[in-house]
Amino acid sequence: MPLLKTPPLALYVHFPWCVRKCPYCDFNSHASKGPVPERRYIDLLLRDFEREASRLGRRPIESIFLGGGTPSLFAPDAIDALLVGIRRLAPVPNDAEVTLEANPGTIERGRFAEYRAAGVTRVSLGAQSFNARHLRLLGRIHSAAETQTAVAELRAAGIDNFNLDLMYGLPEQTVAESIADLEAALALEPAHLSHYQLTLEPGTAFFHAPPPMPTEDDAWDMQQANQALLAQHGFVQYEISAFARPGRECRHNLNYWEFGDYVGIGAGAHGKKTAVDAGRISRSERPRGPREYMEAIETGTPAREAAVAAAELPFEFMLNALRLRAGFSGGLYEERTGLPLDGVRDRMALAEVRGLMQRDDRAGWRCTALGYRFLNDLLQFFLPEKAVPAGNSYAQEATMVPATARCDSLWPQ
Ligand SMILES: C[S@@+](CC[C@H](N)C(=O)[O-])C[C@H]1O[C@@H](n2cnc3c(N)ncnc32)[C@H](O)[C@@H]1O
Ligand code: SF4
Repeated sequence: MPLLKTPPLALYVHFPWCVRKCPYCDFNSHASKGPVPERRYIDLLLRDFEREASRLGRRPIESIFLGGGTPSLFAPDAIDALLVGIRRLAPVPNDAEVTLEANPGTIERGRFAEYRAAGVTRVSLGAQSFNARHLRLLGRIHSAAETQTAVAELRAAGIDNFNLDLMYGLPEQTVAESIADLEAALALEPAHLSHYQLTLEPGTAFFHAPPPMPTEDDAWDMQQANQALLAQHGFVQYEISAFARPGRECRHNLNYWEFGDYVGIGAGAHGKKTAVDAGRISRSERPRGPREYMEAIETGTPAREAAVAAAELPFEFMLNALRLRAGFSGGLYEERTGLPLDGVRDRMALAEVRGLMQRDDRAGWRCTALGYRFLNDLLQFFLPEKAVPAGNSYAQEATMVPATARCDSLWPQ
Protein backbone atom coordinates (compact mmCIF):
# COMPACT_ATOMS: atom_id res chain seq x y z
CA MET A 1 0.00 0.00 0.00
CA PRO A 2 1.47 3.43 -0.88
CA LEU A 3 2.06 5.78 1.98
CA LEU A 4 -0.27 8.69 2.49
CA LYS A 5 1.85 11.78 3.14
CA THR A 6 0.96 15.05 4.82
CA PRO A 7 0.47 17.60 2.00
CA PRO A 8 0.99 21.37 2.22
CA LEU A 9 -1.73 23.27 4.07
CA ALA A 10 -3.52 26.45 2.95
CA LEU A 11 -6.16 28.64 4.61
CA TYR A 12 -9.27 29.97 2.86
CA VAL A 13 -11.34 32.69 4.55
CA HIS A 14 -14.79 33.45 3.16
CA PHE A 15 -16.40 36.93 3.27
CA PRO A 16 -20.04 36.47 2.27
CA TRP A 17 -21.16 40.06 1.57
CA CYS A 18 -21.21 42.21 -1.59
CA VAL A 19 -22.52 45.69 -2.34
CA ARG A 20 -25.02 44.15 -4.73
CA LYS A 21 -25.68 40.63 -6.00
CA CYS A 22 -24.56 40.20 -9.63
CA PRO A 23 -27.23 38.44 -11.73
CA TYR A 24 -24.87 35.70 -12.97
CA CYS A 25 -23.24 34.82 -9.65
CA ASP A 26 -23.97 31.67 -7.64
CA PHE A 27 -21.21 32.19 -5.11
CA ASN A 28 -22.17 32.27 -1.46
CA SER A 29 -22.54 36.05 -1.50
CA HIS A 30 -25.31 38.29 -0.24
CA ALA A 31 -26.09 41.95 -0.87
CA SER A 32 -25.26 43.69 2.38
CA LYS A 33 -28.13 45.71 3.70
CA GLY A 34 -26.13 48.39 5.45
CA PRO A 35 -22.58 48.17 6.78
CA VAL A 36 -21.04 44.72 7.17
CA PRO A 37 -20.65 43.49 10.79
CA GLU A 38 -16.89 43.89 10.61
CA ARG A 39 -15.83 43.48 14.23
CA ARG A 40 -18.21 40.64 14.99
CA TYR A 41 -17.32 38.69 11.85
CA ILE A 42 -13.54 39.04 12.32
CA ASP A 43 -13.85 37.96 15.98
CA LEU A 44 -15.86 34.92 14.94
CA LEU A 45 -13.47 34.01 12.12
CA LEU A 46 -10.67 34.00 14.66
CA ARG A 47 -12.69 31.92 17.08
CA ASP A 48 -13.40 29.48 14.24
CA PHE A 49 -9.72 29.36 13.31
CA GLU A 50 -8.56 28.94 16.90
CA ARG A 51 -10.50 25.71 17.10
CA GLU A 52 -9.05 24.46 13.83
CA ALA A 53 -5.52 25.52 14.72
CA SER A 54 -5.64 23.57 17.98
CA ARG A 55 -6.01 20.40 15.89
CA LEU A 56 -3.36 21.20 13.29
CA GLY A 57 -0.28 20.30 15.32
CA ARG A 58 1.57 23.49 14.29
CA ARG A 59 1.45 22.65 10.58
CA PRO A 60 2.54 25.79 8.68
CA ILE A 61 -0.03 27.69 6.61
CA GLU A 62 1.63 28.07 3.22
CA SER A 63 -0.91 30.48 1.73
CA ILE A 64 -3.99 32.44 2.76
CA PHE A 65 -6.82 33.40 0.41
CA LEU A 66 -9.34 36.02 1.52
CA GLY A 67 -12.20 35.35 -0.89
CA GLY A 68 -15.84 36.10 -1.32
CA GLY A 69 -18.18 37.71 -1.77
CA THR A 70 -16.23 40.91 -1.49
CA PRO A 71 -13.49 40.87 1.16
CA SER A 72 -12.50 44.40 0.11
CA LEU A 73 -15.72 45.59 1.79
CA PHE A 74 -13.76 45.06 5.00
CA ALA A 75 -11.53 47.95 6.03
CA PRO A 76 -7.76 47.43 6.12
CA ASP A 77 -7.67 47.52 9.93
CA ALA A 78 -10.19 44.63 10.04
CA ILE A 79 -8.02 42.62 7.61
CA ASP A 80 -5.00 43.54 9.73
CA ALA A 81 -6.67 42.26 12.90
CA LEU A 82 -7.56 39.03 11.12
CA LEU A 83 -4.05 38.39 9.77
CA VAL A 84 -2.41 39.27 13.09
CA GLY A 85 -4.79 36.86 14.83
CA ILE A 86 -4.11 34.06 12.33
CA ARG A 87 -0.36 34.46 12.75
CA ARG A 88 -0.76 34.30 16.50
CA LEU A 89 -2.63 31.00 16.27
CA ALA A 90 -0.59 29.15 13.64
CA PRO A 91 2.82 29.34 11.97
CA VAL A 92 2.65 31.36 8.75
CA PRO A 93 6.02 31.55 6.93
CA ASN A 94 7.18 35.08 6.06
CA ASP A 95 7.02 34.31 2.36
CA ALA A 96 3.46 32.93 2.48
CA GLU A 97 1.20 34.15 -0.35
CA VAL A 98 -1.69 36.19 1.06
CA THR A 99 -4.33 37.02 -1.58
CA LEU A 100 -7.24 39.43 -1.17
CA GLU A 101 -10.15 39.44 -3.63
CA ALA A 102 -11.26 42.96 -4.42
CA ASN A 103 -14.09 44.54 -6.34
CA PRO A 104 -12.91 47.70 -8.18
CA GLY A 105 -16.08 49.46 -7.01
CA THR A 106 -14.96 49.26 -3.37
CA ILE A 107 -11.47 50.67 -3.62
CA GLU A 108 -10.94 54.01 -2.00
CA ARG A 109 -7.75 55.94 -2.42
CA GLY A 110 -4.81 54.54 -0.50
CA ARG A 111 -6.66 51.39 0.51
CA PHE A 112 -4.32 48.89 -1.17
CA ALA A 113 -1.30 50.41 0.59
CA GLU A 114 -3.04 49.71 3.88
CA TYR A 115 -3.96 46.17 2.88
CA ARG A 116 -0.34 45.62 1.95
CA ALA A 117 0.82 46.96 5.30
CA ALA A 118 -1.59 44.46 6.89
CA GLY A 119 0.23 41.60 5.12
CA VAL A 120 -1.62 41.17 1.82
CA THR A 121 0.92 40.17 -0.88
CA ARG A 122 -1.37 39.52 -3.83
CA VAL A 123 -4.69 40.95 -5.06
CA SER A 124 -7.32 39.43 -7.33
CA LEU A 125 -9.42 42.14 -8.93
CA GLY A 126 -12.85 41.42 -10.44
CA ALA A 127 -12.63 43.35 -13.72
CA GLN A 128 -15.04 41.07 -15.68
CA SER A 129 -15.18 43.35 -18.74
CA PHE A 130 -14.04 46.80 -19.89
CA ASN A 131 -17.10 47.41 -22.05
CA ALA A 132 -19.63 49.82 -20.51
CA ARG A 133 -22.62 47.99 -22.00
CA HIS A 134 -21.45 44.61 -20.71
CA LEU A 135 -20.58 45.95 -17.28
CA ARG A 136 -24.12 47.30 -17.09
CA LEU A 137 -25.66 44.03 -18.31
CA LEU A 138 -23.60 42.15 -15.72
CA GLY A 139 -24.93 44.42 -12.99
CA ARG A 140 -21.42 45.48 -11.98
CA ILE A 141 -21.03 48.37 -9.56
CA HIS A 142 -17.96 49.83 -11.32
CA SER A 143 -16.84 51.24 -14.65
CA ALA A 144 -13.80 50.24 -16.71
CA ALA A 145 -12.14 53.47 -15.58
CA GLU A 146 -12.57 52.42 -11.94
CA THR A 147 -10.83 49.12 -12.68
CA GLN A 148 -7.98 51.06 -14.29
CA THR A 149 -7.78 53.37 -11.27
CA ALA A 150 -7.76 50.36 -8.93
CA VAL A 151 -4.79 48.94 -10.85
CA ALA A 152 -2.99 52.28 -10.60
CA GLU A 153 -3.65 52.16 -6.84
CA LEU A 154 -2.24 48.61 -6.71
CA ARG A 155 0.93 49.73 -8.43
CA ALA A 156 1.25 52.79 -6.20
CA ALA A 157 1.00 50.44 -3.23
CA GLY A 158 3.82 48.29 -4.68
CA ILE A 159 1.55 45.30 -5.37
CA ASP A 160 2.52 44.13 -8.84
CA ASN A 161 1.49 40.53 -8.17
CA PHE A 162 -2.16 40.89 -9.08
CA ASN A 163 -4.78 38.92 -10.97
CA LEU A 164 -7.60 40.22 -13.12
CA ASP A 165 -10.82 38.17 -13.39
CA LEU A 166 -12.21 38.52 -16.89
CA MET A 167 -15.25 36.78 -18.35
CA TYR A 168 -16.08 36.06 -21.98
CA GLY A 169 -19.17 34.71 -23.71
CA LEU A 170 -21.09 37.66 -22.27
CA PRO A 171 -24.66 38.50 -23.35
CA GLU A 172 -24.66 39.71 -26.98
CA GLN A 173 -20.85 39.76 -27.00
CA THR A 174 -19.05 39.44 -30.33
CA VAL A 175 -15.66 37.79 -30.79
CA ALA A 176 -14.15 41.22 -31.54
CA GLU A 177 -15.60 42.64 -28.29
CA SER A 178 -14.13 39.79 -26.25
CA ILE A 179 -10.72 40.43 -27.82
CA ALA A 180 -11.04 44.16 -27.07
CA ASP A 181 -11.79 43.26 -23.43
CA LEU A 182 -8.70 41.09 -23.20
CA GLU A 183 -6.55 43.76 -24.83
CA ALA A 184 -7.76 46.29 -22.26
CA ALA A 185 -6.91 43.83 -19.48
CA LEU A 186 -3.45 43.09 -20.92
CA ALA A 187 -2.72 46.82 -21.19
CA LEU A 188 -2.84 46.86 -17.37
CA GLU A 189 -0.01 44.30 -17.29
CA PRO A 190 -1.37 41.90 -14.69
CA ALA A 191 0.85 39.08 -13.41
CA HIS A 192 -2.07 36.66 -13.70
CA LEU A 193 -5.35 36.48 -15.56
CA SER A 194 -8.35 34.29 -14.76
CA HIS A 195 -10.41 33.92 -17.89
CA TYR A 196 -13.87 32.43 -17.35
CA GLN A 197 -16.61 31.64 -19.82
CA LEU A 198 -19.83 33.08 -18.41
CA THR A 199 -22.09 30.19 -17.44
CA LEU A 200 -25.75 30.32 -16.49
CA GLU A 201 -25.78 28.90 -12.98
CA PRO A 202 -28.95 27.51 -11.39
CA GLY A 203 -30.39 29.80 -8.77
CA THR A 204 -29.12 33.02 -10.39
CA ALA A 205 -31.18 35.79 -11.98
CA PHE A 206 -29.60 35.01 -15.38
CA PHE A 207 -30.64 31.37 -15.07
CA HIS A 208 -34.27 32.34 -14.50
CA ALA A 209 -34.37 34.97 -17.22
CA PRO A 210 -31.47 34.16 -19.57
CA PRO A 211 -30.08 37.09 -21.53
CA PRO A 212 -29.23 36.53 -25.23
CA MET A 213 -26.02 34.50 -25.05
CA PRO A 214 -23.45 33.97 -27.82
CA THR A 215 -23.63 30.60 -29.57
CA GLU A 216 -21.29 27.82 -28.42
CA ASP A 217 -19.35 28.27 -31.67
CA ASP A 218 -18.83 31.96 -30.97
CA ALA A 219 -17.79 31.22 -27.39
CA TRP A 220 -15.30 28.66 -28.70
CA ASP A 221 -13.89 31.22 -31.18
CA MET A 222 -13.55 33.74 -28.35
CA GLN A 223 -11.69 31.22 -26.23
CA GLN A 224 -9.31 30.29 -29.06
CA ALA A 225 -8.61 33.90 -30.06
CA ASN A 226 -8.13 34.99 -26.46
CA GLN A 227 -5.84 32.10 -25.61
CA ALA A 228 -3.66 32.89 -28.62
CA LEU A 229 -3.44 36.53 -27.53
CA LEU A 230 -2.54 35.54 -23.97
CA ALA A 231 0.24 33.27 -25.26
CA GLN A 232 1.59 36.11 -27.45
CA HIS A 233 1.81 38.24 -24.34
CA GLY A 234 3.85 35.63 -22.47
CA PHE A 235 1.06 34.15 -20.36
CA VAL A 236 1.21 30.43 -19.73
CA GLN A 237 -2.05 28.57 -19.28
CA TYR A 238 -1.40 26.35 -16.28
CA GLU A 239 -5.03 25.47 -15.53
CA ILE A 240 -8.31 25.50 -17.48
CA SER A 241 -9.01 29.17 -16.80
CA ALA A 242 -5.78 30.37 -15.16
CA PHE A 243 -3.01 32.13 -17.08
CA ALA A 244 0.15 33.47 -15.50
CA ARG A 245 3.45 35.00 -16.34
CA PRO A 246 6.12 32.41 -15.49
CA GLY A 247 6.55 32.18 -11.72
CA ARG A 248 3.33 34.09 -11.02
CA GLU A 249 0.96 31.13 -10.74
CA CYS A 250 -1.41 31.36 -7.79
CA ARG A 251 0.24 29.16 -5.16
CA HIS A 252 -2.98 28.90 -3.17
CA ASN A 253 -5.03 27.57 -6.08
CA LEU A 254 -2.20 25.27 -7.19
CA ASN A 255 -2.42 23.63 -3.79
CA TYR A 256 -6.12 22.83 -4.40
CA TRP A 257 -5.38 21.41 -7.82
CA GLU A 258 -2.52 19.31 -6.48
CA PHE A 259 -4.95 17.87 -3.94
CA GLY A 260 -3.29 19.59 -1.01
CA ASP A 261 -4.98 20.31 2.32
CA TYR A 262 -6.83 23.45 3.31
CA VAL A 263 -8.69 24.82 6.25
CA GLY A 264 -11.78 26.83 5.30
CA ILE A 265 -13.25 29.33 7.75
CA GLY A 266 -16.18 31.69 7.32
CA ALA A 267 -19.75 31.22 6.08
CA GLY A 268 -20.09 28.15 3.85
CA ALA A 269 -16.33 27.52 3.73
CA HIS A 270 -15.14 24.00 2.93
CA GLY A 271 -11.98 22.32 4.17
CA LYS A 272 -9.96 19.20 3.39
CA LYS A 273 -7.54 17.54 5.77
CA THR A 274 -5.26 14.52 5.64
CA ALA A 275 -4.61 12.60 8.86
CA VAL A 276 -1.68 10.34 8.00
CA ASP A 277 -1.74 8.39 11.29
CA ALA A 278 -5.41 7.51 10.89
CA GLY A 279 -4.98 6.95 7.10
CA ARG A 280 -7.93 9.30 6.60
CA ILE A 281 -8.84 12.23 4.36
CA SER A 282 -11.80 14.27 5.55
CA ARG A 283 -13.85 17.20 4.36
CA SER A 284 -15.53 19.86 6.46
CA GLU A 285 -18.26 22.40 5.77
CA ARG A 286 -19.65 25.40 7.65
CA PRO A 287 -23.22 26.75 7.49
CA ARG A 288 -23.72 28.79 4.32
CA GLY A 289 -25.85 31.64 5.63
CA PRO A 290 -23.87 34.44 7.28
CA ARG A 291 -26.29 34.57 10.21
CA GLU A 292 -26.35 30.79 10.66
CA TYR A 293 -22.57 30.68 10.48
CA MET A 294 -22.12 33.42 13.08
CA GLU A 295 -24.62 31.78 15.43
CA ALA A 296 -22.94 28.38 15.02
CA ILE A 297 -19.55 29.81 16.00
CA GLU A 298 -21.05 31.77 18.89
CA THR A 299 -22.70 28.65 20.27
CA GLY A 300 -19.62 26.48 19.67
CA THR A 301 -21.37 24.20 17.15
CA PRO A 302 -18.64 22.24 15.34
CA ALA A 303 -18.38 22.26 11.54
CA ARG A 304 -19.81 19.25 9.70
CA GLU A 305 -16.99 16.84 9.00
CA ALA A 306 -16.91 13.52 7.14
CA ALA A 307 -14.26 11.12 5.90
CA VAL A 308 -13.93 10.77 2.13
CA ALA A 309 -14.51 7.12 1.19
CA ALA A 310 -11.50 5.48 -0.48
CA ALA A 311 -13.71 4.67 -3.51
CA GLU A 312 -14.28 8.39 -4.08
CA LEU A 313 -10.66 9.47 -3.86
CA PRO A 314 -9.66 8.69 -7.48
CA PHE A 315 -12.45 10.95 -8.78
CA GLU A 316 -11.71 13.68 -6.24
CA PHE A 317 -8.03 13.65 -7.11
CA MET A 318 -8.71 13.73 -10.88
CA LEU A 319 -11.31 16.46 -10.51
CA ASN A 320 -8.46 18.67 -9.36
CA ALA A 321 -5.27 17.40 -10.93
CA LEU A 322 -6.63 17.01 -14.45
CA ARG A 323 -7.38 20.74 -14.51
CA LEU A 324 -3.64 21.34 -14.51
CA ARG A 325 -1.96 21.61 -17.87
CA ALA A 326 1.08 19.84 -16.44
CA GLY A 327 -1.01 16.97 -15.13
CA PHE A 328 0.34 14.87 -12.28
CA SER A 329 2.93 12.22 -11.49
CA GLY A 330 2.11 8.73 -10.27
CA GLY A 331 3.98 9.57 -7.06
CA LEU A 332 1.72 12.55 -6.36
CA TYR A 333 -1.40 10.46 -6.92
CA GLU A 334 -0.18 7.82 -4.46
CA GLU A 335 1.00 10.15 -1.71
CA ARG A 336 -2.08 12.41 -1.85
CA THR A 337 -4.70 9.63 -2.00
CA GLY A 338 -2.87 6.80 -0.23
CA LEU A 339 -4.03 4.53 -3.08
CA PRO A 340 -1.92 2.58 -5.60
CA LEU A 341 -1.80 4.07 -9.08
CA ASP A 342 -2.49 0.57 -10.34
CA GLY A 343 -6.09 1.03 -9.21
CA VAL A 344 -6.69 3.63 -11.96
CA ARG A 345 -4.18 2.49 -14.55
CA ASP A 346 -6.77 0.67 -16.69
CA ARG A 347 -9.02 3.74 -16.74
CA MET A 348 -6.18 6.05 -17.67
CA ALA A 349 -5.06 3.62 -20.38
CA LEU A 350 -8.57 3.62 -21.81
CA ALA A 351 -8.69 7.42 -21.68
CA GLU A 352 -5.37 7.38 -23.53
CA VAL A 353 -6.76 5.09 -26.24
CA ARG A 354 -9.69 7.47 -26.62
CA GLY A 355 -7.38 10.42 -27.04
CA LEU A 356 -8.37 12.15 -23.78
CA MET A 357 -5.23 11.59 -21.72
CA GLN A 358 -1.59 11.19 -22.52
CA ARG A 359 1.40 9.83 -20.69
CA ASP A 360 4.50 11.89 -20.44
CA ASP A 361 7.50 9.78 -19.38
CA ARG A 362 8.98 12.58 -17.33
CA ALA A 363 5.97 14.17 -15.66
CA GLY A 364 3.32 11.45 -15.61
CA TRP A 365 -0.24 11.88 -16.83
CA ARG A 366 -2.16 14.79 -18.24
CA CYS A 367 -5.10 15.72 -20.46
CA THR A 368 -4.79 16.01 -24.21
CA ALA A 369 -6.36 19.07 -25.86
CA LEU A 370 -9.48 16.94 -26.47
CA GLY A 371 -9.56 15.79 -22.85
CA TYR A 372 -9.22 19.39 -21.70
CA ARG A 373 -12.14 20.40 -23.85
CA PHE A 374 -14.32 17.57 -22.61
CA LEU A 375 -13.04 17.31 -19.09
CA ASN A 376 -16.45 16.53 -17.61
CA ASP A 377 -16.68 13.46 -19.82
CA LEU A 378 -13.16 12.37 -18.96
CA LEU A 379 -13.86 12.72 -15.24
CA GLN A 380 -16.68 10.22 -15.55
CA PHE A 381 -14.05 7.53 -16.08
CA PHE A 382 -13.04 7.96 -12.46
CA LEU A 383 -16.45 7.92 -10.80
CA PRO A 384 -16.73 5.15 -8.21
CA GLU A 385 -18.36 1.98 -9.52
CA LYS A 386 -19.06 3.72 -12.80
CA ALA A 387 -18.81 1.69 -15.97
CA VAL A 388 -16.55 3.43 -18.45
CA PRO A 389 -18.65 4.82 -21.33
CA ALA A 390 -18.64 2.35 -24.20
CA GLY A 391 -17.38 3.05 -27.70
CA ASN A 392 -15.30 5.88 -29.03
CA SER A 393 -17.98 8.50 -28.63
CA TYR A 394 -15.40 11.28 -28.68
CA ALA A 395 -15.67 11.33 -32.43
CA GLN A 396 -19.10 12.87 -31.87
CA GLU A 397 -17.98 15.94 -30.01
CA ALA A 398 -21.33 17.61 -30.35
CA THR A 399 -22.91 15.10 -27.99
CA MET A 400 -20.67 16.09 -25.14
CA VAL A 401 -20.85 18.92 -22.73
CA PRO A 402 -17.75 21.12 -22.86
CA ALA A 403 -15.96 21.51 -19.54
CA THR A 404 -17.14 24.63 -17.77
CA ALA A 405 -14.39 27.15 -17.51
CA ARG A 406 -14.98 28.13 -13.91
CA CYS A 407 -12.58 26.80 -11.38
CA ASP A 408 -13.88 28.60 -8.35
CA SER A 409 -17.23 26.87 -8.54
CA LEU A 410 -15.44 23.77 -7.30
CA TRP A 411 -13.74 25.62 -4.59
CA PRO A 412 -14.37 26.61 -1.07
CA GLN A 413 -16.77 29.47 -0.76
C1 LIG B 1 -15.84 35.73 -5.93
S1 LIG B 1 -15.83 36.43 -7.48
C2 LIG B 1 -14.49 37.65 -7.49
C3 LIG B 1 -14.37 38.86 -6.62
C4 LIG B 1 -15.45 39.89 -6.51
N1 LIG B 1 -16.56 39.32 -5.83
C5 LIG B 1 -15.88 40.51 -7.80
O1 LIG B 1 -16.83 40.01 -8.40
O2 LIG B 1 -15.32 41.54 -8.17
C6 LIG B 1 -15.03 35.21 -8.45
C7 LIG B 1 -15.08 35.30 -9.96
O3 LIG B 1 -15.83 34.24 -10.51
C8 LIG B 1 -16.27 34.62 -11.80
N2 LIG B 1 -17.68 34.21 -11.93
C9 LIG B 1 -18.69 34.40 -11.05
N3 LIG B 1 -19.84 33.88 -11.56
C10 LIG B 1 -19.55 33.37 -12.78
C11 LIG B 1 -20.30 32.71 -13.80
N4 LIG B 1 -21.60 32.49 -13.67
N5 LIG B 1 -19.66 32.31 -14.91
C12 LIG B 1 -18.34 32.52 -15.06
N6 LIG B 1 -17.58 33.14 -14.14
C13 LIG B 1 -18.16 33.57 -13.02
C14 LIG B 1 -16.11 36.11 -11.92
O4 LIG B 1 -15.09 36.41 -12.83
C15 LIG B 1 -15.72 36.53 -10.52
O5 LIG B 1 -14.81 37.58 -10.51
S1 SF4 C 1 -19.47 38.26 -8.81
FE1 SF4 C 1 -18.38 39.00 -7.03
S2 SF4 C 1 -19.37 41.01 -6.58
FE2 SF4 C 1 -20.77 39.92 -7.91
S3 SF4 C 1 -22.18 38.90 -6.47
FE3 SF4 C 1 -20.55 37.40 -7.04
S4 SF4 C 1 -19.07 37.58 -5.42
FE4 SF4 C 1 -20.37 39.44 -5.33
